[in-house]
Amino acid sequence: MKRFNRLITGVAISAGMSSVAVAQSPPAGAAPPAAAASAAATATLSGKDWKAPDITKLPDDKYGQIVRQGKLLMEETYKHIGPEVKDVKKRYAGNNLGCTSCHLESGGRKFGNPWVGTFVSFPQYRGREDAVSTTEERINGCMERSMNGKKLPLDSEEMKAMMAYLHFLSTGIPVGTKLEGGGTLKLKTLARAADPVAGKQVYASTCASCHGEKGLGVRRGKAGDANGYQFPPLWGPDSYNNGAGIARLTLAAGFIKGNMPSGITHLNAVLTDEQAFDVAAFVNSQPRPVKRNLEKDFPARKNKPVDAAFAPYTPGFSAEQHKFGPWPPIQEARAKGVYPLK
Ligand code: HEC
Ligand code: HEC
Repeated sequence: MKRFNRLITGVAISAGMSSVAVAQSPPAGAAPPAAAASAAATATLSGKDWKAPDITKLPDDKYGQIVRQGKLLMEETYKHIGPEVKDVKKRYAGNNLGCTSCHLESGGRKFGNPWVGTFVSFPQYRGREDAVSTTEERINGCMERSMNGKKLPLDSEEMKAMMAYLHFLSTGIPVGTKLEGGGTLKLKTLARAADPVAGKQVYASTCASCHGEKGLGVRRGKAGDANGYQFPPLWGPDSYNNGAGIARLTLAAGFIKGNMPSGITHLNAVLTDEQAFDVAAFVNSQPRPVKRNLEKDFPARKNKPVDAAFAPYTPGFSAEQHKFGPWPPIQEARAKGVYPLK
């Protein structure tokens, strides 16, 4: 880890949050009581200074037990429902990642795909399905894509435990609250195409020390022992598939900029936006499992993100341009009503 320590030493704090809306607080004492009350409500709703609730304060009753079980399942997914667990029937996940390989700090980190507030934001309209989805269906979206596996049965113990943990993480948050720091950093769209060749250099200098020269990660133990990874793979057969959210460059770049190299947060990011896009382009050009039937995603084609790198494509633009950009010309065509065909 020596090289990594060197890397993050002396890094300037980067704002990196210009695209994030910040609720303005009224000057203290200036507002009449009614306005003050509504400002207080707005403050809660903006969800600015949230923290994950403290799980150590939960009693050891049945609810506390299932919440803890859910947390463990999401951290050590590979041990319980991974492809190497003894009980073949429990092999729901197709890779040895943990949910918290991408949902950082057990789902408590801003811009690290947090789960705080998730429970109260579903059911939710989802463009990928063009339908209203439940939280369980969203979990299974990650099971089939990020975890390259199968759906968990809705009535399984595992699903119940995961739902209990998500429920706990939304303790005290009103339904429908939009929290700041949800998802990943939204980077400004690059005017140029992301460059996997430049990204390879970024990878070698900033990522390979942990994720390996070949991107295959570092196991905790041996293949087959269901102990997962110390440093998860970024590509290869044990990684997320090409239908995963993070297989889209904008989501990958935002995740990487706000969380990688491990040890930084969005408040002290080390990569420039360009480097984040380039390294994401390199990572997402490497071989990984392929999800079938991706052409059925985003059945309402106007919802299809411009960086969704699978067919059908926006007429007039190549697969390559959807994957790496430049995206502004595709966005302009979309604005004129040109969408991928059925
Ligand atoms: C390879 C990375 C990765 C892994 C592993 C992963 N996820 Fe996700 N997950 C994401 C990304 C990225 C998003 C947001 C995607 C988007 O906006 O389309 C997401 C979104 C979600 C959401 C919706 C959150 C919200 O507030 O809208 C839930 C719930 C979720 N994941 C659960 C899980 C569970 C449970 C697992 C493990 C079984 C898991 N994820 C594994 C990357 C991952
Ligand atoms: C100091 C070690 C370290 C370095 C350096 C590092 N990572 Fe990670 N990375 C991790 C760990 C550990 C995780 C799992 C999440 C966690 O525990 O923070 C992770 C998770 C990830 C994930 C999501 C999980 C997956 O398997 O896909 C991606 C993508 C990722 N890193 C990309 C990068 C990129 C790109 C770089 C270089 C810019 C980088 N990382 C540098 C340690 C590191």
